[in-house]
Amino acid sequence: MSRFPTGAATPASIVDVLKAVAGDPPRVRASFAKGRCVRGTYVPSDWAEEITKSRSFTRPSRVLARFSMGGGNPKVTDTNNLVPRGFSFKLGDDRHRSHILMQNAPVHFARTLDQMLAFLKARIPGPEGKPDAAKVKAFSAANPETLHQASYLAARPLPGSFAGTTYWGVHAFPATNSKGETRFIKFKVVPVGGDVKLTENEARIKSADFLHEDLEKRIAAGDVRFNVMALLDRPGDPTMDVTIRWPDEDNREAVRLGTIVITGVEANDACDASIFDPANLAEGIGHPPDEVFAARHAAYTISLAKRR
Ligand code: HEM
Repeated sequence: MSRFPTGAATPASIVDVLKAVAGDPPRVRASFAKGRCVRGTYVPSDWAEEITKSRSFTRPSRVLARFSMGGGNPKVTDTNNLVPRGFSFKLGDDRHRSHILMQNAPVHFARTLDQMLAFLKARIPGPEGKPDAAKVKAFSAANPETLHQASYLAARPLPGSFAGTTYWGVHAFPATNSKGETRFIKFKVVPVGGDVKLTENEARIKSADFLHEDLEKRIAAGDVRFNVMALLDRPGDPTMDVTIRWPDEDNREAVRLGTIVITGVEANDACDASIFDPANLAEGIGHPPDEVFAARHAAYTISLAKRR
């Protein structure tokens, strides 16, 4: 009998399955297990207040951040193109703090929590250490939108640097500005120096931790800087479905909220002792309305309790 209950997915059952897919490694995050904690600064642009009154975005602050590799395996190699790269950051002060979690794909792999649970269950490795290919194929055929994220990643070259990668917040966040006007935005974080993409030949000779080594070198050289962008909504945008992009999303009007500069490497304990909590958003940025977002706070809290 399966160790996972049948029926409606819960944040706890999702965490259990994330762990099972990765082979239950102890004391690490259920997702984005491999990573590097860093620190930096945030400086707002003059336009931030037109989009949000959130003081975490309209005031300069220190930043605690973490770059990561997707999945629950802390030994995943940095040459694996198929897991997303993550970038999480906390900005603002004690009273107005926002945690923003991003990945290098603009969509999530499931539209509902039940679909996320089923997607993951189909990928739990069997006795030979591999998922049942027929089960994955059948699930994908019945749920084609769950392949959007993997197709996006597979179609792109291996990211050559955490500091040279574009990241998305995926969900539609309601943002309220200083005039009290609310609209949906999507967060996009863009490296100031552009994306660093490797050719197949360059990728072939990279080591298992090359992204982590590259990050430390670039931080030492003062070379890690991102623009935090808000992509602006249009009437009728799909704000409830995290497996699809907004129409013509790459050409959306975008406002630069501010700039993050990563200035130093931080002890990993500074990131591991608590969570980057997607629900932690200072007034002026609201919670996205989709059901996947609603489950995240509880899932991250359960994961933290398990890895302590
Ligand atoms: C748009 C969708 C999502 C994105 C962009 C995303 C991104 C991330 C990132 C970047 C991290 C690493 C945080 C860190 O550096 O400490 C993370 C961790 C995690 N995510 Fe997500 N995630 C998404 C959806 C979800 C959902 C729907 C669930 C479960 C319902 C989930 C469960 C987790 C868990 C359990 C962790 C580990 C938390 C911890 O132990 O600190 N994620 N996610």
